[in-house]
Amino acid sequence: MPKPLTSEGLLKLQVIPQAWVQRVVDWQLTHGRNDLPWQGTCDPYPVWLSEIMLQQTQVVTVLDYFNRFLQRFPNVSALAQATLDDVLGLWSGLGYYSRARNLHACAQQVVNEWAGVFPKSAAGLQTLPGIGPSTAAAIASICYGERVAILDGNVKRVLTRVMGFDADLSQPKNERMLWSLAQQVLDPLPTADLVQAMPRYTQGMMDLGATVCRLRNPSCAACPVADVCSARQQDRVADYPVKTQRVKRTSQWYWLLLAATSGGTVWLSARPTPGVWAGLYCAELFTSHSALLQALPAELQNQTQDLSPVLHKLTHRDLHLHPVWLPVSQGQTQSALISKSTGKWFSNTQWPDLGLPAPLRVLLEQLTKS
Ligand code: ADE
Repeated sequence: MPKPLTSEGLLKLQVIPQAWVQRVVDWQLTHGRNDLPWQGTCDPYPVWLSEIMLQQTQVVTVLDYFNRFLQRFPNVSALAQATLDDVLGLWSGLGYYSRARNLHACAQQVVNEWAGVFPKSAAGLQTLPGIGPSTAAAIASICYGERVAILDGNVKRVLTRVMGFDADLSQPKNERMLWSLAQQVLDPLPTADLVQAMPRYTQGMMDLGATVCRLRNPSCAACPVADVCSARQQDRVADYPVKTQRVKRTSQWYWLLLAATSGGTVWLSARPTPGVWAGLYCAELFTSHSALLQALPAELQNQTQDLSPVLHKLTHRDLHLHPVWLPVSQGQTQSALISKSTGKWFSNTQWPDLGLPAPLRVLLEQLTKS
């Protein structure tokens, strides 16, 4: 017996759910993205890999990384057997490195606890590291045709606009309500249609949000559901989704010690977990210029040169990076630069393969190419 709907929870679609799904499916077939390398398969391994990479990252950026990962780790056991350092090295530059740590932990869990086979439902997938409810729904609907709704940022935009859903999504109860509406759309679909319809519907909702129903400058003229869109009828497309409490941006300042020989040997140490760039290799980080100098042997303290600061923007944080260059001789790399550090010297053939924060890689490339 379906739950009676409250007036708030009422599906505010102007077409019947089957017609809605059909429109999205038809549009996806002709106008959606259908040539991505993780498509056209029901194998959860590449689909999972792509979904993790696509969290907070655009398709164009993911393409190369996806292909490299699949080549190096063609299946979940290959990934589980890799070292975390190898995985972080290959992930280097994609950002949000907790995704790479969870990816590795997830592969190990699938191998050790699921006999190397991904769980066959969204509920099972959600028990794995790094797989939240929307990612689990994406994998299960794409690979198994499960009747489960995704609700990522793109889909929230499409649904709130079409339904004129104006409750504040910064409140969890409203987000839950939207999720339940997203699921109600799927409830009337005939079971026999799921395997055909669900993968394309899921992809269609993501494609619609990413390419047509954009945050700024939506292409309503190209939208297959513009005629039944509440926000458009109200001429208030830009007002949806409603989210009053945005996360406040914060700033942090770091001084980076770039100790390098002319041959490109550099001093790097693994960042502690938790903290900024956890698990990646990095130049020694300090919270002030004087702390950096004090960490150096006395005879090197007047050998440094300040380079131009770099602003590195993370989602909710600005990192103000102050690189400080310390040229060293080959002889000086025979012993530790900083005695209390876990750092080491890495040659110019070693460090490019390490998992490095993207802005540090750029700095090292600039510093060691001349
Ligand atoms: N974003 C998240 N998942 C995606 C997918 N499968 N295709 C395109 N963009 C996505």
